[in-house]
Amino acid sequence: MMKRIRIAECLQSEVPINECSIAGWVRTKRESKENIFIEINDGSCLANLQVVVGVGDSYFETAQRLHTGASVYIHGSLVASPAQGQKWELKPVVITVFGDADQSYPLQKKRHSFEFLREIAHLRPRTNTMGAIMRIRNQVSYAIHTFFQHKGFLYVHTPIITTSDCEGAGEMFQVTTLDLRNLPVVNGSIDYTQDFFGAKAALTVSGQLEGELLAMASGYIYTFGPTFRAENSNTTRHLSEFWMVEPEMAFATLQDDCSLAEEFLRFVFTWVLEKCKEDMQFFDERIKPGIIKNLELIVSSSFEIVTYTEAIEKLKQSRDSFEFPVHWGMDLQTEHERWLTEKYFKKPIIVIHYPKAIKAFYMKLNDDNNTVRAMDVLVPGVGEIIGGSEREDRYDVLIARMKEMELNPDDYWWYLDIRKFGSAPHAGFGLGFERAIQFITGMQNIRDVIPFPRTPGNARF
Ligand code: 4AD
Ligand code: MG
Repeated sequence: MMKRIRIAECLQSEVPINECSIAGWVRTKRESKENIFIEINDGSCLANLQVVVGVGDSYFETAQRLHTGASVYIHGSLVASPAQGQKWELKPVVITVFGDADQSYPLQKKRHSFEFLREIAHLRPRTNTMGAIMRIRNQVSYAIHTFFQHKGFLYVHTPIITTSDCEGAGEMFQVTTLDLRNLPVVNGSIDYTQDFFGAKAALTVSGQLEGELLAMASGYIYTFGPTFRAENSNTTRHLSEFWMVEPEMAFATLQDDCSLAEEFLRFVFTWVLEKCKEDMQFFDERIKPGIIKNLELIVSSSFEIVTYTEAIEKLKQSRDSFEFPVHWGMDLQTEHERWLTEKYFKKPIIVIHYPKAIKAFYMKLNDDNNTVRAMDVLVPGVGEIIGGSEREDRYDVLIARMKEMELNPDDYWWYLDIRKFGSAPHAGFGLGFERAIQFITGMQNIRDVIPFPRTPGNARF
């Protein structure tokens, strides 16, 4: 590897650097009578490094021939910039062009729509927005691991391929090696014993079920992995492949779960405000004005905990009209979630005790026999970012719930065993990683906070 320093480091330097080498891609180039100004970005930070080549300098012609998009290695000296707008600039002694780009390079200086950029996702990482998103995703991942590691949670790895549907919602991508043109059939249905795993298999929608098994041995665990959902929702908040963080705690209740979620989110937001100042400034200026103030406010105030029933009452009393009429028993739609967080409480809220009929089978039934110990964290702008619960730890009740939801207990025998041998209260939640990034950055569409989004009809790149 060529000895070089990252542009982020250059720009933060306190002193001039005599011998300085950088490498990156040309963002823009402009010429005056005496100079050529080239802006180089290497992905290490939002800002570009300005390279100034004077008429008569040995690499003037090389610089003249350079196009936006070209990759270069430049050796020279970092000197104080006489012009406004930047502290440092680079005076080159050597310019090596690795690969030039021609006029057809799609990322010319003008601003492009997010829709257009999704069509060129292979080059999109070179834009300011996706560059900033990538750095924020990185820091948020780091914050997540730091938080759980400091609290003594074990990072565990749950399977991606599974034969059980965690959410019981039937939204799974099947995994098979059977010949689709010649399926083995017994008694009129497909014989999965002949499939690769000897059973019908799919990509997981959540690592929770196995996460619970591990928590019921290790105490505190968390997963952080990809999850897959074949729900046909073409919305700004749904991906078919997204990343989820799922902590699970043994000997814990719904209250512990809510406290953990709040502490966790506060930690992550604080981390980003501290570590991603330049990128957050960018989102504040270009994407959603006020986003930094908003995050600071959220970090410094406590979340509101409301029951589902209270939330429904507030919605019913509201003077605003909703597309989906409000009644007890309904699932909260995005418009309701947003009204509660943006208009009524004006901060993140945790909604608890949902009707059992609209939640997954594994949530602990309350004594009213009607609601479950669920908790969803809703935030302004995005709606639900966390879904969790205390788990049903009573064997008989869990079997009854499965039957009620038309799931076959035999398929979950191992999950049920945990309720037979040393069962205990336990709780956990799942944070949608991309929803969290959306909330932090203020980006409108979830497809723009992941480099290569998978959505119905699209798995390109
Ligand atoms: O509420 P969900 O479905 O909960 C679970 O999967 C539980 N097993 C988690 C647990 O208790 N361990 O999903 C959790 C979160 C949601 O709150 C949302 O933020 C995100 O995952 N999510 C999605 N994000 C992007 N695209 C989708 N299609 C999503 N579906 C859920
Ligand atoms: Mg949910």
